[in-house]
Amino acid sequence: MPKWLNDAVFYEIYPQSFYDSNGDGIGDINGIIEKLDYVKGLGCNAIWLNPVYDSPFMDAGYDVRDYYRVAPRYGTNDDLVRLFEEAHRKDMKILLDLVPGHTSDTHPWFLTAKSAKVTEFSNRYIFTKSVWDAPPEYRMMCGICERDGNYMVNYFSSQPALNYGFSRITHPEWQLPTDHPDCLNTVEAIKDIMRFWLNKGADGFRVDMADSLVKNDDDKRATAKIWRGVREMLDAEYPEAAMVSEWCHPDRAITDAGFHMDFYLDHYGNGYSRLFRFGEWGDLAVFNPNGLGDLKGFAEEYLPAYNRTKDKGYISFMTNNHDMPRVTAYLDKQAIKLVNAFIFTMPGVPFLYYGDEIGMRYQADLVSKEGGFSRTGSRTPMQWNDGKNLGFSESNEPYLPVDTASDAPTVANQRDDPDSIYRVVTDLIALRHKYDDLHGNGELEFLYDNHSIPFAFRRGGLTMFFNPLGRDATLSTECDGDVVYKIGEATIENGKVSMKPQSFLMIANC
Ligand code: GLC
Ligand code: CA
Repeated sequence: MPKWLNDAVFYEIYPQSFYDSNGDGIGDINGIIEKLDYVKGLGCNAIWLNPVYDSPFMDAGYDVRDYYRVAPRYGTNDDLVRLFEEAHRKDMKILLDLVPGHTSDTHPWFLTAKSAKVTEFSNRYIFTKSVWDAPPEYRMMCGICERDGNYMVNYFSSQPALNYGFSRITHPEWQLPTDHPDCLNTVEAIKDIMRFWLNKGADGFRVDMADSLVKNDDDKRATAKIWRGVREMLDAEYPEAAMVSEWCHPDRAITDAGFHMDFYLDHYGNGYSRLFRFGEWGDLAVFNPNGLGDLKGFAEEYLPAYNRTKDKGYISFMTNNHDMPRVTAYLDKQAIKLVNAFIFTMPGVPFLYYGDEIGMRYQADLVSKEGGFSRTGSRTPMQWNDGKNLGFSESNEPYLPVDTASDAPTVANQRDDPDSIYRVVTDLIALRHKYDDLHGNGELEFLYDNHSIPFAFRRGGLTMFFNPLGRDATLSTECDGDVVYKIGEATIENGKVSMKPQSFLMIANC
């Protein structure tokens, strides 16, 4: 287990929208290098970079055409190596996005596979034996290749699924077992890509749709087995490299598959979604001032998984990511401050999505860009200052518009505002680094009694109290501690915690 993860705080960068260094309207790697000090200044010591590989961008780069080459619009491989070096000089780590489940339908492997000629790549993807065979239980593209067969897709139609075989074989004519040499070669091909970038200085990978490899893999055991093999390679060859899965199933991802971290996704109704997004636009979310307020629904799901996985890896919370509406679409500013207090004091490895530190807004009415669809509104350019395109780009045609609101938050107008989300986020990250008890593997104990408000949890010598609701709340405790940090108005006196609406207290020695 790479030690650095225990005190890691990640910043997710969607490269096309972060900073355009050459005025062509699109963010780039040199732009990220220029802003590394900014990221470090937030307290983030690691970055997850969304895909930067060559791609036709039908899905924002999750449709890879060449895993070994940086997309020209972002720069060159040398620029990326320079980003690794500059980051390391500042004691920061960079995780690339690994997309193992599918490629672009313009990837040379696929162009070869879809031709009639039989080659070593004919089984790299999943083709039926004839175009007349298209079982409805699989998502197939039909009748569009020279080759006589239909192929399976993994996500959008432009993303054919790579072939790792089938766990339960229902159509033996075309479904290969996972130990077929051609399926094993797919695994080796992915390992080679990983080695290539790790050798160049990458610190690991965020793994896209990590659970999607083997098909008909109901309990995901065959998929997990592949990742355990990858983890063995990392342990042997790159023991400092880290992998975080997009899986949202800590037992499977961490315990079975060997990921160092697994992050929560907002699957409707799951524990994580209950925190911010539950109900009609979050009206039942824990942190909605008119919502449920108590942590029970979340804790019942999270705690058992946490207890089972805490010695093996980290469950990650994200403020948002590039796939979900920004939390500003659901919650008010004070609630968002409390959400951040929660995320940055919980165990695991937290992830901050670019722009969330300034409360960037979800842009609801944008026309879809590069396969974003409803996600496009969470992917707009970073807002740096009140300059042209809010400091994102000198171009007259940025690839996506910046927030046009007259009161659009920017780094410049939030940084020195004591009432800003920025202040709370940076304060909390600093506290997380300062106190070992707040690190990834520090202890956790929930202090909640059914549906009580405030709710609280203890992490070693620190106790966090939350009143997310729009009314006063009190709680009797056995202690009188020292206030380490507070949001809103709240006190502790003679064992009594009194909290005004939407407040947070961090208490030492309680
Ligand atoms: C993941 C990515 C998402 C992408 C999809 C297909 O969910 O986060 O952005 O569209 O996988 O690769
Ligand atoms: Ca650029």
